[in-house]
Amino acid sequence: MTVEDLLAWLPPGSPEQALARQVDFDRLPAHVAIIMDGNGRWAGQRRLPRVEGHRAGIESVRAVVETSARLGIGVLTLYAFSVENWKRPRTEINTLMMLLKRYLRLELDTLLSNDIRFQVIGRPEDLRPDVQEELRAAMTRTEANQGMRFNIALNYGGRAEIVDAVRRLIDAGVPGDEIDERRFGEYLYTAGQPDPDLLIRTSGEMRISNFLLWQIAYAEIWVTDTLWPDFRRRDLLEAIVAYQKRDRRYGGITPARAATL
Ligand code: FPP
Repeated sequence: MTVEDLLAWLPPGSPEQALARQVDFDRLPAHVAIIMDGNGRWAGQRRLPRVEGHRAGIESVRAVVETSARLGIGVLTLYAFSVENWKRPRTEINTLMMLLKRYLRLELDTLLSNDIRFQVIGRPEDLRPDVQEELRAAMTRTEANQGMRFNIALNYGGRAEIVDAVRRLIDAGVPGDEIDERRFGEYLYTAGQPDPDLLIRTSGEMRISNFLLWQIAYAEIWVTDTLWPDFRRRDLLEAIVAYQKRDRRYGGITPARAATL
């Protein structure tokens, strides 16, 4: 996929195409992580049950997955269900699981044709057996794909992930004096993947919500008031353009500033 292919895929003269022209394809974020928020509010604004917001949110998932893959993003992580989400009503949880299963069934061909490798991060072992089965099937079918890695965070918690990593380090018998940040990262769910460069949160909330706590140490955070079911490829492109305007210093100073000292 070249930049020209991407531009040809977007409607001619559209805002998306104008935004895509502003993207520097040599400086794409290696990993984009998204906190999909605002489904309930989207439904509430339309006097619909909350689950209709989740249903509508699937269309945004489709748009973001395909656009990210076409752009050439290396890793996309979507926060779909947190360890705290079990506190929601049983009917809402069941609908979310049903939507997830349906999404995987309907989108498997798109994942395959876009060379996307699908993976779950979190504690999927606590999910219903039929959901686990569907997840396993999608992971197995896409495991040889070499393109974008698509992580869905399910029954995920950032603190739980760190605790799981510590347990796995202990189980592996790694001596304490051999543990450093690089080694620790090898025991996280995202082992082998770059940390997110860009963290997007929809619906205007300024919270991290226990998402990728270790990995977002230096991520650029972009928050939009757009509710998740309204999020489309245009919003993703806007986030990437904004990200590329940021001055990333990783705790240091820019070369330009250093030259003035
Ligand atoms: C937050 O909105 C959203 C969720 C907890 C679930 C997101 C899930 C989906 C979009 C569907 C399944 C996902 C995939 C990847 C197929 P909220 O309910 O907290 O909204 P609110 O803050 O407005 O109440």
